[in-house]
Order: sequence, then structure tokens, then C-alpha cells
Amino acid sequence: MKNIVCLISGRGSNLEAILNAQRDQDWPGSLDARVAAVISNRADARGLAIAQARGVPTCVVAHDSYDSRGAFDSALAQRIDEHAPDLVVLAGFLRVLTPEFVERYRGRLINIHPSLLPAFMGLGTHARAIEAGVRIHGTTVHYVSGELDAGPIIAQAALAVRPGESESELARRVLSLEHRLLPRCIAWILEGRVRWDGKRVHTDDLGMQDLLLQEP
Ligand code: GRF
Repeated sequence: MKNIVCLISGRGSNLEAILNAQRDQDWPGSLDARVAAVISNRADARGLAIAQARGVPTCVVAHDSYDSRGAFDSALAQRIDEHAPDLVVLAGFLRVLTPEFVERYRGRLINIHPSLLPAFMGLGTHARAIEAGVRIHGTTVHYVSGELDAGPIIAQAALAVRPGESESELARRVLSLEHRLLPRCIAWILEGRVRWDGKRVHTDDLGMQDLLLQEP
């Protein structure tokens, strides 16, 4: 069975969706993979308790215990490599990673971002989407490359922004799409149905209804 390591910083709802997908073998995004470990850069991340409740090993590599980003990333890589993961998933991991770290896991490191990239990179995506008046918003799963939120896109999920919708309501709807999209992308990568050759993302037999998920 393939191994995943998840990196988190907070709430852990995407981690929970991954753990749920492992159980639900009838679901299209079901995962035949083991979450070998959950690593957080913050000891107070709520997602740690979610993992522990499921018996998944956790550890904290506190970024503020290290003098530099490089030192933190080396410590992080050491903990990750103990599990020899096939895939490392940034599931709400709020640290910028060094180019060395990104290179070490090239093609095995994915992130979920709460916007339709390349629109709204960075933080505060839902407020900015409302401010910009976009009609379509959503979430993106992408391989991590050297540039923040700019790695090659694997798949996206989209919804129509409702007139007068609040930031919190929009965030809630996008998050529920995230929970459907991320486990599917992980499954596709582990099954070899999605891969990145360094230039292009190959998605072989997947159709547009897979790669652009829409709100039901
Ligand atoms: C999600 O919105 C994800 O897209 C972003 O960080 C948030 C993490 O939420 N990268 P959670 O910790 O998974 O609940």
C-alpha cells in the first residue's frame, strides 16, 4: 500500500477528508493508501487531534524553534523521509518552503489552494474574490514548484458566487469542494493516472468532469 505524509498548520478539515476517503471505498475519491504520518509546524494545530483520534502518528516540527527556513525545512524533510512517502500533501500547511525542499520532493509534493489559480494567489482569497466581483470561484490542487501557488495545476473545483454572498459563506462552500477534490487528486496520483514530467501534467484517462469538479 502507498504511503502519504500530510503537512498541516491548523484546523485539519482537509486532512479529515483524506482520512474519511480511506474508509469510504464506494466513493469516487476513495483512497487505497495509508496516511503514514501527520506533521504540523504548530503544536496547537487542531488537525493533530483529528489524526490522533484515528490512530495516525503525528509529530510537531515547530518552525519557531529553528534559526532559518533552511534549518526548519531540513528537520521537516528528515521527519517526512522516515516514512518513505509516495506523496507529500500540503493540507493547509502555511509555511513557505525553500527551493531545496521543493526540489527534494518534486513531483511528489502537492498543495490545495482556495481559489481558481492563477487568480488570487496568497492569502485572503475569498474576500478578494468577492471584492473583484468574480462570478466563478473555487479551489485548485497543484504540484508544488519553486514559485508560491504557481505550480502546475492538477485539477480544480468551481462554483458560482451568489449575489451578496458573505466571505464566510463563500469560504464554507469552497471548503466543501476542497474536501471532495483533494482526496480524488491524491488517489489519481497514487494510481499513476496523473503525473508531472517536469513540463506538463499528464492526466491520461481523466475527463473534464473529473478535472473540473462542479458544485452539486
Ligand atoms: C484550506 O482552505 C486550504 O485550501 C488552504 O488552507 C486551508 C486549510 O484548511 N491551503 P484545513 O486546515 O484543511 O481545514
